[in-house]
Amino acid sequence: METQLLQFNKQHLDLAGQIIQSGKLVAFPTETVYGLGANALDKDAVQGIFAAKGRPSDNPLIVHVANVKQIDQVAYCDSEDVQKIINAFMPGSLTIVLPKRDVVPTVVTAGLNTVAVRMPNSKQALEFLSACQVPVAAPSANTSTRPSPTNWQTVNEDMAGKIDAILCGDDCAVGIESTVLDMTQPTPTVLRPGYVTPSQISKVLGKPVKVVTNPTEKVNSPGVKYKHYAPSCEMVLNTDGDVQKVIDYYDNQVSLGKRVVILAQQTHLYGSRNVMPLGQTDSDVAQGLFANLRQCEKANDVIIATYSSDTELAQSILNRLTKSAGQKIL
Ligand code: TXA
Ligand code: MG
Repeated sequence: METQLLQFNKQHLDLAGQIIQSGKLVAFPTETVYGLGANALDKDAVQGIFAAKGRPSDNPLIVHVANVKQIDQVAYCDSEDVQKIINAFMPGSLTIVLPKRDVVPTVVTAGLNTVAVRMPNSKQALEFLSACQVPVAAPSANTSTRPSPTNWQTVNEDMAGKIDAILCGDDCAVGIESTVLDMTQPTPTVLRPGYVTPSQISKVLGKPVKVVTNPTEKVNSPGVKYKHYAPSCEMVLNTDGDVQKVIDYYDNQVSLGKRVVILAQQTHLYGSRNVMPLGQTDSDVAQGLFANLRQCEKANDVIIATYSSDTELAQSILNRLTKSAGQKIL
């Protein structure tokens, strides 16, 4: 299959919408990461997503909507708390898990009786979703286990020949995936940390929210149990800011003949060693994270990432970095 690269313009938006309506797959930009979309109401089309990504079929997909009204088409959303969340964060970088309506095929939800719904806030994403005229099921547009794509070129690396089209829009401004919030639990529960933080959610609801931190805890969000965000080379993560430890590990790996890179916020601390900037603020780090990992893996055998910050956004970043490193903490 030849994958069409569609420059982002009005004519191609219409074409992308038609491709979705005909049951085929289109990757598209959002402010978090690029998504790999199919008509959420067409089970054969959705099956194609799992095949293109190599995604296990027990990992459910997020249904993307172009407007708040469309949520009601796929999910039950009339509770007071759910309405508060929708008013505050939609459009935005938050996904909510709700009781599903029968119209959503079980392949989308991996057999669960809930459905995850998101209305992104990037203009390009909303224009694409409007052009589709149907809710769009979409995971991140990467091969399963790989770092998520935050630009169309990366989508093309993973998906060329496997999907019908890529809508080539802007690089993603946020850079990490949406926060997944389960509103079907007695206490609203963050299943995956993201750009929207637990305290922002808690403030809107006027009550505490639960955050799933321990992956061995009963897994409500099937996706969290899989290998994730992994670069193709080795990776370790330092979180205690011990510069000497990073340097010692680097020097030791180099002495073993390995090509090593340090991914750090403070690049000047490592002398003449091979260092790549991780970004200054937490938002910078999030935005560049996956692209940095993909760049580092191309020319290195080992990535040593070093990052510590105690903001809430940092917890979401550390969640990704820890998984990228396969839990190997230096
Ligand atoms: O920012 C994002 O969320 C991006 C863009 C494209 O919207 N999408 C994304 O999708 O990251 P994906 O498939 O890579 O991650 C979806 C997560 C997985 O952890 C999945 O298990 C969880 O959402 N999820 C989906 N449906 C669920 C459900 N009904 N109940 C609990 N978790 C669900
Ligand atoms: Mg993903």
